[in-house]
Amino acid sequence: MEKKIIIANWKMNLSVEESCSLAHAIFAGAAEFFTKTEIVLCPSFEALAIVSKELDDSKIFLGSQDCFWEDKGAFTGEVSPKFLHEMGVKYVILGHSERRQFLNETNAQINKKIRNALKYNLIPILCVGETFEERQEGHKDFVIMKQLEECLEGIKLLENDQLLVAYEPVWVIGSGQAVLPEEAEHTSQVIQQALLDLFGSEAKAQKTAVIYGGSVNENNLKSFLDSLSISGVLVGAASLDAKRFLSLIKSAV
Ligand code: PGA
Repeated sequence: MEKKIIIANWKMNLSVEESCSLAHAIFAGAAEFFTKTEIVLCPSFEALAIVSKELDDSKIFLGSQDCFWEDKGAFTGEVSPKFLHEMGVKYVILGHSERRQFLNETNAQINKKIRNALKYNLIPILCVGETFEERQEGHKDFVIMKQLEECLEGIKLLENDQLLVAYEPVWVIGSGQAVLPEEAEHTSQVIQQALLDLFGSEAKAQKTAVIYGGSVNENNLKSFLDSLSISGVLVGAASLDAKRFLSLIKSAV
């Protein structure tokens, strides 16, 4: 991935109308950065269609916050990657810690979701990261390796497939206090090594990349992007305000 990527995860924070005006303001304010960074907005499902109208999809890209492991059928309430693809969605966040925590999403389910997302040319953003307890017990790298191995087991990346892995320490998400850039860099190198072991030449061919997420803001973003092993960021709270998010993008370029 040549350009650094900045992904906004709006979670379940904004109404359809609020999502629409935020997308409008970001699109209008970010014009000078389109060629320098890849900007992705991930609104809630309800707002995807309307937000897509606010964006020229060759300049700012659309991401979904999840998708299901089947294309269609009797799966009440689920979101089809096929239909996301038809709507012009390019990325999909999978395995976010909030879904693992509140919906008991497992690595095996995430594995099936990644396979199905790739089938429809979506770029999965696989989230991995340790809890505070796991970190205190010294199991951080082990936990992350297990998530990677189980979520990616048996997956092959074909010609046009890409995969992003977001390292998100669960305990810093929404805390306002990110980990030190050196630590994010160390962990992203561990992840890169794991991707190399799992994918070999496919990882070398730059089909995979690692990004960082967890209390990224306009003041600390640059310190993460300065690291060669970190290709971008996943931003929650700091992406909910146009002025803040635009100054964050500005600090990246
Ligand atoms: P945060 O969220 O930036 O508010 O910590 C990041 C995320 O959950 O992806």
